[in-house]
Amino acid sequence: MYKLLLRPLLFQFDPEKVHYFTFAWIRRLFRIGLGGLIKKWGLIEDPRLEREVFGLKFKNPVGLAAGFDKDAKLYNELGAIGFGFIEIGTLTPKGQLGNPKKRLFRLTEDSGLINRMGFNNGGVAEAIPRLKKNKGVLRGGNIGKNTDTKPEDYTADYLECFHALHPYVDYFVLNVSCPNVSSHAKLNDKEYLESLIGAVKKANDTYDIQRPIVLKIAPDLNDQQLDEIIDLVTTTNLDGVIASNTSVSREGLKTSEERLAEIGDGGLSGKPITDKSTRVIKYLADKSNRSFPIIGVGGIHSAQDALDKLDAGASLVQLYTGFIYEGPGLIKDINKAILKRS
Ligand code: FNR
Repeated sequence: MYKLLLRPLLFQFDPEKVHYFTFAWIRRLFRIGLGGLIKKWGLIEDPRLEREVFGLKFKNPVGLAAGFDKDAKLYNELGAIGFGFIEIGTLTPKGQLGNPKKRLFRLTEDSGLINRMGFNNGGVAEAIPRLKKNKGVLRGGNIGKNTDTKPEDYTADYLECFHALHPYVDYFVLNVSCPNVSSHAKLNDKEYLESLIGAVKKANDTYDIQRPIVLKIAPDLNDQQLDEIIDLVTTTNLDGVIASNTSVSREGLKTSEERLAEIGDGGLSGKPITDKSTRVIKYLADKSNRSFPIIGVGGIHSAQDALDKLDAGASLVQLYTGFIYEGPGLIKDINKAILKRS
């Protein structure tokens, strides 16, 4: 029904406006009492779908990727639709508007998106009251730095978000791979990453409960850079990696050069990055002898895409663009396919 009726209608409008509109509608449907019905339709509960990763129990391995519920406004409803976990954020210490609009574009011919949102979010403090209203959803906290933060204060930004969210999220993601924030060079520097991870881990050790901490990486890294990531995970004793974020590449797209030039900069997601991100997962898993868990994300538009990521070495998967293009039925399709194989 989504692809036949709803998507053609929604795709008539500006993608960012549709995002907020859909958000409001999902919330409304739950408020008028249709939540139970939606849950019944979407949620598959089966012990064979359960996964234990980073010491956490996931109801199923299909999660919602960061960026969709940045401000933790809809995680309860999204959990009820069928996702096994929801990653909120990227949250930054202060709220910020992000880049000027228009900043989100559909590449319909390619089943992709290009975005340069630039970490628009209400700031970490604003999300806390909403995070206190959890109805049993496993949540990841994806954290970053404010755009106007000076390089010497990057770590302080991550730490501020880490401490604020520590009581409310189950795992943390250090987002160091968003192509849409300025002065990013430092976040690609291995030495800096080592010190950032060290500082966050030290902060983690001050709590009674230690949260798993993972790093989210770009799909554009070459083999040498991926070797460095494996090295980094090993030396810092990081809990895992999310592969991957959006891509800066525009290779092999059906969308015309003129249209791409008109759109300009931004991170590419969806079908065009499916193979790229699966390659990164496979490389990391093979080269490290599967010594740390990987969350596989990037261009999952079908159950088979998800199975490919799991076969490549991912322990869990996440969706964003595929959720927009294929609708909520995709979560169920993936979980059914996993059950069929088990
Ligand atoms: C994202 N993504 C993202 N990632 C992140 O770590 N923090 C963020 O704030 C965002 N924001 C965001 C906004 C929009 C509009 C999109 C499309 C994507 C990246 C996302 O979580 C995911 O890693 C990539 O989009 C690749 O997966 P898909 O979309 O191909 O399934």
